[in-house]
Amino acid sequence: MKIKACLFDLDGVIVDTAKYHYIAWKEMAADLGFDFSEDENELLKGVSRMRSLDILLGIGKITKTEAEKLELADGKNRRYLEYVSHMTAAEILPGVTRFLDDLRSNGILVALGSASKNAPMILDRIHLKEKFDVIVDGNSVSRAKPDPEVFLKGAALLGVQPHECLVFEDAQAGIEAALNGGMKVIGVGSSDHLSHADHYIPGFKKLDYELLSKWYL
Ligand code: BG6
Ligand code: MG
Repeated sequence: MKIKACLFDLDGVIVDTAKYHYIAWKEMAADLGFDFSEDENELLKGVSRMRSLDILLGIGKITKTEAEKLELADGKNRRYLEYVSHMTAAEILPGVTRFLDDLRSNGILVALGSASKNAPMILDRIHLKEKFDVIVDGNSVSRAKPDPEVFLKGAALLGVQPHECLVFEDAQAGIEAALNGGMKVIGVGSSDHLSHADHYIPGFKKLDYELLSKWYL
């Protein structure tokens, strides 16, 4: 296989925190007096906290000062933390742990590439930190997906070239980040919401090293 490393998004790929991000934003939108649909939420997936807030305020046609925005983003994060603070390893998405072990036992390097500043805390809660050779998250990047910074940094820390990397992403912004970085990418979720990935999988239940080897000869 030409792939030497797999880079994983966190929210919606490793664990189903995407739903908690959505609920927290939806509650904030309701407080501000507008509805926020699941379709509109696709625009926020993979996107940094402050950029997500700008998109959401745009949907509600609401203008806020920079200071007010910081306060709103903090409020959203407090709501989000209330949800994720109860998470356990039981919320790791089906097949993920087995697939990570399968990759590692076949000599494939594994990295996390997440926009979330909460990523280290979540990996701690679900006891998955030790499965990753390298962790790059929202605290260590300055440019949000679709900029490839998060994945390029992961590749550099692993000591591999971008074309030797395969990214797993549930967000369009993340798929574009991988492609912008010259990497291969598998979309996790339905191709109704996602485009331009090499392959789409509904989840990790049926994916293993052997199948990947066929896809990336
Ligand atoms: C991404 C999520 O992984 O992280 C986005 O898909 C989220 O929905 C972003 O806004 C930033 O997360 P956090 O935890 O730093 O607010
Ligand atoms: Mg995601």
